[in-house]
Amino acid sequence: MDQLMIEGPNFLSGRVQVSGSKNAALPILAATLMGQGTQKILNVPNLGDIRTILNLLTHLGASVKKEDSALLVCADSVSEHDVPYELVKTMRASILVLGPLLARFGKAKVSLPGGCAIGERPINLHLMGLQKLGAQIEISEGYIYAQASKLTGTKICFDDITVNGTQNIMMAATLAKGVTLLENAAKEPEVVDLAHFLNKMGANISGAGTDTMIIEGVETLGQATHEIIPDRIEAGTLVLAVAATGGNVRVEHCAPQHLGFVLDKLMACGVHIEQDERSIWVKSNKVLEKINMETKPYPGFPTDLQAQMMAFLTQTQGTSRIVENIFEKRFNHVAELGRMGAQITIDGRCAMVEGGKKLSGAPVMATDLRASASLVIAGLVAHGRTEISRVYHLDRGYEQLEEKLKNLGARIYRVSNRECKG
Ligand code: EPU
Repeated sequence: MDQLMIEGPNFLSGRVQVSGSKNAALPILAATLMGQGTQKILNVPNLGDIRTILNLLTHLGASVKKEDSALLVCADSVSEHDVPYELVKTMRASILVLGPLLARFGKAKVSLPGGCAIGERPINLHLMGLQKLGAQIEISEGYIYAQASKLTGTKICFDDITVNGTQNIMMAATLAKGVTLLENAAKEPEVVDLAHFLNKMGANISGAGTDTMIIEGVETLGQATHEIIPDRIEAGTLVLAVAATGGNVRVEHCAPQHLGFVLDKLMACGVHIEQDERSIWVKSNKVLEKINMETKPYPGFPTDLQAQMMAFLTQTQGTSRIVENIFEKRFNHVAELGRMGAQITIDGRCAMVEGGKKLSGAPVMATDLRASASLVIAGLVAHGRTEISRVYHLDRGYEQLEEKLKNLGARIYRVSNRECKG
């Protein structure tokens, strides 16, 4: 197992390019199961979770090819509708094929995802939506068995906002008979990107990015070419790394409008930020003020940047309060940051971060994807050597993060476990 070594403190400067969005690419790749012909997808990041969904598509019988920078996916020969536990246990987002398989074959058998390091993460809202569209759902021996002779459009209102739930139902409703009205839908840019892709394939979806979406069912979907949006969480992670370490960096190939709330918070802390349509220019001299914030569905502060924001807030003056509203167990990084000298106390969903503490390098363990990113930021800031183990969590969702940071001047390198011991 690889480890990341960081010698700190670091000062970052230069330019860095953001990769395509993991969380936009996953549902779009799942949606390729519904189209006829070859889908050409551009800006797909090369990372662990993407390899998992491509394995899943291949397992189902799709052909996946790389052509220059594009990924070509053809699902014409898919005949399988059974997704085993082995594929789902490595990535919960595999549940995103449930809607497409059901819409295409009238049946699907998908392993039920279990719990996860950041919370229980039920899928009751996905199943409720499919049932409203007319599917019969049975859970047996760890599998979801879904069946419908024909899905039929209807009004579906989500009790809570769910990103993948909205996407699953959107995809299923695309091939349903009649009109589906989705209320209290997720408004995340990744939902909008999926709607754009489905519409290019011939779907009829309007209202994506608002609370209410209208999906007029169509008979079939065809082929499309689509470029995945930039990863707003990777962009935010890079911006926070610069803000925390001090530096002067232009974060390019990103969509600043998807990070409005985060950038406003950072400016309120004293980080200097300029932006144009495709880039964010961050300058930080480390004279930073505390702030209070809470995670919310889009356009609020994303839960996927909470851990990285916490690492940043250890470097501000005063005590900041973070409330995590989306996932009940998303404070796994707190104990590891504590090993580096951070003073953070937790009370339920609320964390109080005492700023102005000097962090020191330490051996730490990544517990989930975004927790790993927060440890990288802390390691860049800390004095001395930080050794991060279990970096496979990081590799699931960040494309070449250490190379990108290295190019900005960071002293960060990867070693295999054997090399470390030797
Ligand atoms: N929820 C339910 N029932 C459901 C679905 C969700 O109670 O049927 C609850 C969840 O337990 C959670 C809340 O609703 O408390 C929000 O969960 P949501 O369904 O929105 O999360 P998700 O769709 O499973 C996606 C991202 C996550 C990101 C969340 C929130 C993907 C593949 N994953 O998950 O990304 O944190 O939305 O924005 O799109 C990550 O990339 O690190 C990551 C965890």
